Amino acid sequence: MGPGILNQVLHCLPRIQDDNLLVGMNTVDDAGVYQLSENMAIIQTVDFFTPIVDNPYLFGQIAAANALSDVYAMGGHPVTAMNIVAFPSKKLDITILSDILRGGADKVLEAGAVLVGGHSIEDNEPKYGLAVTGTVNPKKVITNSGAKPGDKLILTKPLGTGIICTAIKAEMATHDIEVEVSRLMATLNKEAAAAMIEIGVHSCTDITGFGLLGHGLEMAQGSHVNLIIYAKDVPVLPYSLEFASMGLIPGGAYRNQSYTEGEVNVNTGIDKSLTSVFYDPQTSGGLLIAVEEAKTEKLMLTLEKRGVTEASVIGEVIEGTGKIEVK
Ligand code: CO
Ligand code: CO
Ligand code: CO
Repeated sequence: MGPGILNQVLHCLPRIQDDNLLVGMNTVDDAGVYQLSENMAIIQTVDFFTPIVDNPYLFGQIAAANALSDVYAMGGHPVTAMNIVAFPSKKLDITILSDILRGGADKVLEAGAVLVGGHSIEDNEPKYGLAVTGTVNPKKVITNSGAKPGDKLILTKPLGTGIICTAIKAEMATHDIEVEVSRLMATLNKEAAAAMIEIGVHSCTDITGFGLLGHGLEMAQGSHVNLIIYAKDVPVLPYSLEFASMGLIPGGAYRNQSYTEGEVNVNTGIDKSLTSVFYDPQTSGGLLIAVEEAKTEKLMLTLEKRGVTEASVIGEVIEGTGKIEVK
């Protein structure tokens, strides 16, 4: 669902007062954090969706990597996971479901977490994801509301997966492109998170359905700062610009653009296709990290050492009231 509709619905829920609730629905983080003891808090998050690639094993991997991502974005370690499954068992071969689940299980294993169960229902369209519980030291929770003026912004994965998945659905993308984008989406944010925990950062969010500018705006507003993003420095998947110029843009990109209107200013000189990539909803996108300037180089080196080779410094944080300028 788009961020606008979601906010309207969530506003109807009762406000929760609990001293142990460190991150709840009052902020716009994707995961909740609840303190259990002095040094231990749990992070809880859930994510599931319909297939975005044809290969069921890869779909399982991508859905799991995406579900685990919110734990990583908050500086936590995933501990347990549960499958959420919808499947038309009378219409589709059951081996498809076992491939999806195997993909998910392999990612949970790679994350060092344990799959402890799940729940399945009959449905017309397959859906898969995970509910994930992680742990974090309550004093070391990283949220999307800690960015400070003077910070640099780092993005750890290139953008454009939504546009490329739209091209795959329209049968406009080659098999090689599909394999490449699937591999990127199935990549855990584990190493990126480990690097950011090692160096120490101010703020982080993962880039998913609201796109770079939607999640970036959440960070800007939550932190009461402005973000400046340098368009030429943002890593973008090859082919995504070409597909965008052909109009293969997911509806979510337009929703993200209209939702952020007035708060996000993209300079008029910037190419239209590139602008749509900045609004493109990402599946299992990278982390957007705000880190103090003096630590930026060290963080970039640590990311590279851990195999996060496509990370880039894409902008900076300045004083402000929760807006983004793309230059
Ligand atoms: Co999420
Ligand atoms: Co998230
Ligand atoms: Co059940």
